[in-house]
Amino acid sequence: MTSQNIMSLEGVGMQFGPFHALSELSFEIKAGEVLGVAGPNGAGKSTLLNVCTGGLCPTSGKVLFDGREITGLPRHARCAQGIAMTFQIPTVISSLTVAENLLVGRSFGGSHQHDFDQIVEITGLGPVLDAEAGTVDLLARKTIMLGAALATGPRIVFMDEPLGGLNAEEIQDFVQIIDRARQAFGVTIVMVEHKIRALAEIADRILIINFGKFVCLDRPSVVLNDDHVVEIYLGKKHDA
Ligand SMILES: Nc1ncnc2c1ncn2[C@@H]1O[C@H](COP(=O)(O)OP(=O)(O)OP(=O)(O)O)[C@@H](O)[C@H]1O
Ligand SMILES: [Mg+2]
Repeated sequence: MTSQNIMSLEGVGMQFGPFHALSELSFEIKAGEVLGVAGPNGAGKSTLLNVCTGGLCPTSGKVLFDGREITGLPRHARCAQGIAMTFQIPTVISSLTVAENLLVGRSFGGSHQHDFDQIVEITGLGPVLDAEAGTVDLLARKTIMLGAALATGPRIVFMDEPLGGLNAEEIQDFVQIIDRARQAFGVTIVMVEHKIRALAEIADRILIINFGKFVCLDRPSVVLNDDHVVEIYLGKKHDA
C-alpha cells in the first residue's frame, strides 16, 4: 500500500436545518487501503458516504479527490472520475438479468472500465448471469451491486453496511469477493459497517465517528482497544 492520499476531507460539516449531522470532519483516505467506518446508529456514517460520493453537498468544508476539489460535484460526475458507491439496501434492476445489471454499471462509468469477464470471475456471478436479478438471493444481489459498481471502473468504492443481513458463511464469501476486487483492480475501499469485528479483519484502518464528530482513526488493533471507542460504541453493542 502506498501512503499517497486518494481523498481528503477538510473541515467537512453537514447541517440539516439546525441539526449538525457532521461537524468539522478532517481526515485522509490512502490510495489502496480498506478504510472501515464505524459508529453508533445515527452517528453520520451514511451522511459521510454521501458527502464523499456526491449524494450530498456539505454545508461547510471541502472534499478533495486526487488533490482536486470535488465538494459540489454531483454523483454522476464523481462516478465518471472513478468514485463509486454501493447502498445499504441492494439496488438491482429486478427485471433485468444479472449480466444486464453489470452492463448498466459500465454505461455509467468513466474511461477506465474494467474487463467484463474479469468482473464476472471476481464476483463469481458466472452461474447466474442469465437469471433475472430480482430472483437471486441477498448475497447475490449485494454481489451484483458491487459488480455493477466495479463495472464503472472506479478507483474508490464506498460501501454502506455491505455485510448487513448476511449469515457468517455469506460474510466470509462477500469479504473474499471484496478482497479479490481490491487485489485485481487495486481499488480503494471505504466500508461502513456495524459488525466491527468483521471490519477489523478486512480493514487496514478504522475511522470511528460519533454524533457526526471525529473520534479516532487508526489500525483496528488500536481502535478496538481505545477506551473512548469501547465506551461509545462497543459498550453499547456487545454483539458487534
Ligand atoms: N436528509 C436528512 N434530513 C434530516 N436529517 C437527516 C437527513 N439524513 C440524515 N439525517 C440525520 O442525520 C443523522 C445521521 O444520519 P446517518 O443516516 O448518516 O447515520 P448513520 O450513522 O448512517 O446511522 P445508521 O447506523 O442507523 O445507518 C441522523 O440523526 C439522521 O436522522
Ligand atoms: Mg447509515
